[in-house]
Amino acid sequence: MRKVLSFKALDAAHVIEVDHISKVFPNGTRALNDVSLAVGGSDFIAIIGSSGAGKSTFLRCLNRLIRPTEGTLTLLGEDITHVNGRALRQVRRRMGMIFQQFHLVRRLSVLENVLVGRLRFNAASPLRYGCSILRKFPRSEKEVAFDCLKQVGIADLAFQRADTLSGGQQQRVAIARALAQEPEVFLADEPIASLDPRSAETVMRILKDIQERRNIPVLVNLHHIDFARRYGKRIIGMKAGSTVFEGRASDLDEDVISSIYGPKHGEEEGYDRIRVSG
Ligand SMILES: Nc1ncnc2c1ncn2[C@@H]1O[C@H](COP(=O)(O)OP(=O)(O)OP(=O)(O)O)[C@@H](O)[C@H]1O
Ligand SMILES: [Mg+2]
Repeated sequence: MRKVLSFKALDAAHVIEVDHISKVFPNGTRALNDVSLAVGGSDFIAIIGSSGAGKSTFLRCLNRLIRPTEGTLTLLGEDITHVNGRALRQVRRRMGMIFQQFHLVRRLSVLENVLVGRLRFNAASPLRYGCSILRKFPRSEKEVAFDCLKQVGIADLAFQRADTLSGGQQQRVAIARALAQEPEVFLADEPIASLDPRSAETVMRILKDIQERRNIPVLVNLHHIDFARRYGKRIIGMKAGSTVFEGRASDLDEDVISSIYGPKHGEEEGYDRIRVSG
């Protein structure tokens, strides 16, 4: 088994450098424990691990939705570990993120939802986002939004209300909205967990396409090991807040899977899902 617990970035081309970060929540839970990772533009990283392993906490630290309690985070050479206020909003804008729940504005059209991504791009303060949604958008902004919808293959749905779409379509809108931010990194926290297999495949293909066409890193938390194997150029295995595996899909054999999810087949949480989908 290839096991890389900690490696420091040596390559200046790295987009993200995670240097020995830990996260201890105020209630004492140590959700991340000394995690290091260097991420480049050609990376498509699948992060796997049991429920509670720290996958979401890790992605949320990366875009500074939460602040690590130890260690350093660097985005394109800039230390973002402790940024606040406007600088913090800029950091979040530079990282597109999607979630299992799509978090769309249900009563707005698909196009308006994507334009919310442009507002994040332009607005000086979060308060303006809500107000500005009612204003007339310049044609150039709409063109960007349409391009993003084209990239995810649903430009024909632009004028439909978001809450009339299927789950797979809504996730594609969420991806288009994140793309409209012109992100330098794309993060996805269990983006296919609530989708049927065909929609899941479509969403994973779109994420792969984003990585390849835009040459930005994509990091995806996944519970389905078969998707992690097929799409992850690198796979990170997390357990109890630590990275216990880093390697390629071909390295992900039964021993490695046991080391990530625990040895008792079917008893460890998360393992059933792997067996079913694998
Ligand atoms: N805000 C918080 N306050 C306290 N503990 C938290 C908080 N958020 C997460 N945790 C804890 O941190 C640990 C890691 O949680 P996290 O959500 O990152 O796991 P996960 O790998 O994403 O799990 P899942 O696969 O179920 O989504 C868990 O023990 C969780 O209960
Ligand atoms: Mg999670």
